[in-house]
Amino acid sequence: MYLLITLLAGISAARAGYSGSFLDSAPSATSLGKRSLPVDACGNVGVPYGSNMFLISDDDVPKYKYTITVVGSDTDDYRVGMWNTCDEDHQPRSPRVTDVFPLQFTVPAGSRRSVAFDGGSHGGFVTFRSGSAIPHSAAGVVLGFWGEFVFAHESSDESSAFDVCAFEALRAGRAQFSGLRIDGRDEVSFIATNLTSQANAILSGDVATNHGCVLSSGPLSLVATVDYRG
Ligand SMILES: *[C@@H]1O[C@H](CO)[C@@H](O)[C@H](O)[C@H]1NC(C)=O
Repeated sequence: MYLLITLLAGISAARAGYSGSFLDSAPSATSLGKRSLPVDACGNVGVPYGSNMFLISDDDVPKYKYTITVVGSDTDDYRVGMWNTCDEDHQPRSPRVTDVFPLQFTVPAGSRRSVAFDGGSHGGFVTFRSGSAIPHSAAGVVLGFWGEFVFAHESSDESSAFDVCAFEALRAGRAQFSGLRIDGRDEVSFIATNLTSQANAILSGDVATNHGCVLSSGPLSLVATVDYRG
């Protein structure tokens, strides 16, 4: 449990001299790769890197054990960038100080996109309105209300977890972002647009009161709603 909480609380990432732009051409896997080894705090990042997560059709969601379906805004197209906890060098990352994500895609207004994950995957994602600049802190950390996920954690009885996290945003003194809500089984974590309300969200590094939603082992289909206004 503690490990899951620590993972979800996020690793502070700072890199001086950052500059970058959101890349539309970043490689994304189209099918499930091999499981990465060793099994450690990085979890399964896929071999090749990033092949632990890939887009599937909505109809195929029931065929996969671990999925996130991103439900789009009613009015705007949204971009989604997803990351693993560790980078290609198997270092606890800074996923959030790059704009190159293992998986990124657009969710057109009024539609949804689904992603399948291999067991052992953990990481997060950020959503933002298409065409707007991706927000960063001065240190280059991608800001927003992040979605975070752990699917079938190897050293925690294959339990899973998820949350919506404003930890880095608040550390940067900002709370004006699009809302995000994640539902899984009977649990929910959300932060409404501009942090007007929240439930089971990670707002600080205090693990006693900021722990998101932790679930027992088994298949898990998460539904993440962007532009959530409460
Ligand atoms: C969120 O805050 C921004 C900046 O102040 C504002 O323009 C926007 O209307 C707010 N959105 C909502 C849904 O309150």
